[in-house]
Amino acid sequence: MKKSLDFIQGELSKLGYISAPVDKSTDLPKAIQKLKKEKNAVLLAHYYQDPAIQELADYLGDSLYLAQQAAKIEADVIVFAGVHFMAETAKIINPTKKVLLPDLKAGCSLADSCPPADFAIFKAQYPNAVVVTYINCSAEIKALSDIVCTSSNAVKVIESISKDREIIFAPDKNLGRYLIQKTGREMFLWDGACIVHEAFSFEKIIILAKENPKAKFIAHPESESQILDIAHYIGSTSGLLRYVQEDSSTSYIVATESGILHEMQKCCPEKIFIPAPVEDDTCACSECAFMKLNTLEKLYTCLVYGLPEIQLDTQLMSKARKPIERMLNLGRS
Ligand code: 13P
Ligand code: SF4
Repeated sequence: MKKSLDFIQGELSKLGYISAPVDKSTDLPKAIQKLKKEKNAVLLAHYYQDPAIQELADYLGDSLYLAQQAAKIEADVIVFAGVHFMAETAKIINPTKKVLLPDLKAGCSLADSCPPADFAIFKAQYPNAVVVTYINCSAEIKALSDIVCTSSNAVKVIESISKDREIIFAPDKNLGRYLIQKTGREMFLWDGACIVHEAFSFEKIIILAKENPKAKFIAHPESESQILDIAHYIGSTSGLLRYVQEDSSTSYIVATESGILHEMQKCCPEKIFIPAPVEDDTCACSECAFMKLNTLEKLYTCLVYGLPEIQLDTQLMSKARKPIERMLNLGRS
């Protein structure tokens, strides 16, 4: 009976529909640490995860750091506390490992904004262009790409392309525009965006900055250009974190997913970090709802059942691996 209940819970969890019930008295952080050892599993977590999950991570970082670590992991199981494209990337670059994502529905608006069939038509319009894709895309899009980048190494990736080559950049138009400005290269941009980074309100940021005249305004390059135009510093998640540690100011207004504030506050307990305001006061829009689908309970059940697991077609993986490996070989900027 116990075996069949486990099986049903496992199958449902595999479909991403439910997480199995967890005994309320379970000390989840302690149980998760124990299960990681028992199952020979390593936990990778992005800075946008809930702080309780960040605290349990073996590796905590931005998209590039986590992809670099995923490629090197020797343990049997990789548990990816992030979103689907991140876990998928880990599977592609380390295919013999079992890769688990606590909630399979943890997707990404940016990845969803680039359907493979439409992108193939777009790509066909520029047959001589080098296709650079931001890692926030599906395995199918990566398979249509020449090289992948993250926000940490995008400039380096663009600069690695010969000046006489045309470039397609997808799926983030905001990061794409920023890269055009930064590198001086012309690019054909796919019209995609992240709902979290597009939610920031320019007017409210101006008001907040006036109320906090000593605070510096820092932003992730997925934000819209009018927001980036007023930023003292623009950088990837890890770039922003490094900046606040090295810079001499004592307060910052931060335009990216608010999960990063946890690590910022830990690194700089004496400084003040204010999440940038969003247009809609009724929602927690500076939180990525996809990232926040992963919870301690789901992390626990995913370790117990070894599900939900990322499963990908072998041929698709081998096509998608090449552009990721090209990026990893270039290293961090
Ligand atoms: P980085 O981790 O490269 O800063 O990207 C942020 C992001 O949007 C991840 O989904
Ligand atoms: Fe995707 Fe934006 Fe969420 Fe990152 S913050 S996972 S880009 S929706």
